Amino acid sequence: MKNFLGFGLLLLLFGCEFGSEKELAVANGLRIYQQHCMACHGEKGEGNGLLYPPLQKSDYMLHDSVRTLQHIVQGVSGPMVVNGVSYRGIMPSEPTLNDVELGYLMTYLYNSWGRVGGHFTPDWIARNKPIN
Ligand code: HEC
Repeated sequence: MKNFLGFGLLLLLFGCEFGSEKELAVANGLRIYQQHCMACHGEKGEGNGLLYPPLQKSDYMLHDSVRTLQHIVQGVSGPMVVNGVSYRGIMPSEPTLNDVELGYLMTYLYNSWGRVGGHFTPDWIARNKPIN
């Protein structure tokens, strides 16, 4: 019985190690990305021609995470230059995602496709979200 308890504790410890909050956020963020963003920006954030700019290795996105959050929440239109290419599209706003979901999505975006870019908590989202 004692051994059994010890084993259980060990499993619990490993469970916490592998399922860190950030990993959980990335996994959930992937689902949100697939549902809300992938249709335009592509499976791996590669974008689509001159219509939809890339998120993968986007200098524009990497430059400013607060601006990225603003674009997601409020949408964006008008000219913008991403990796030297000019875009003039319209991105719709995404008002349905709550702070927890936005945190997952941002953490996914900044940790995918070869980046290592931080953990965006719901607190960070609340502090940096534009007021609609
Ligand atoms: C209907 C198509 C569409 C959807 C859906 C969409 N976007 Fe966009 N996105 C665009 C377009 C078009 C632009 C460029 C807007 C412009 O030219 O001003 C853009 C620009 C961006 C940019 C800034 C430029 C860059 O490439 O770094 C980011 C970041 C971004 N989108 C993230 C997202 C995220 C995250 C989602 C999911 C919540 C999303 N978008 C959903 C069409 C879309």
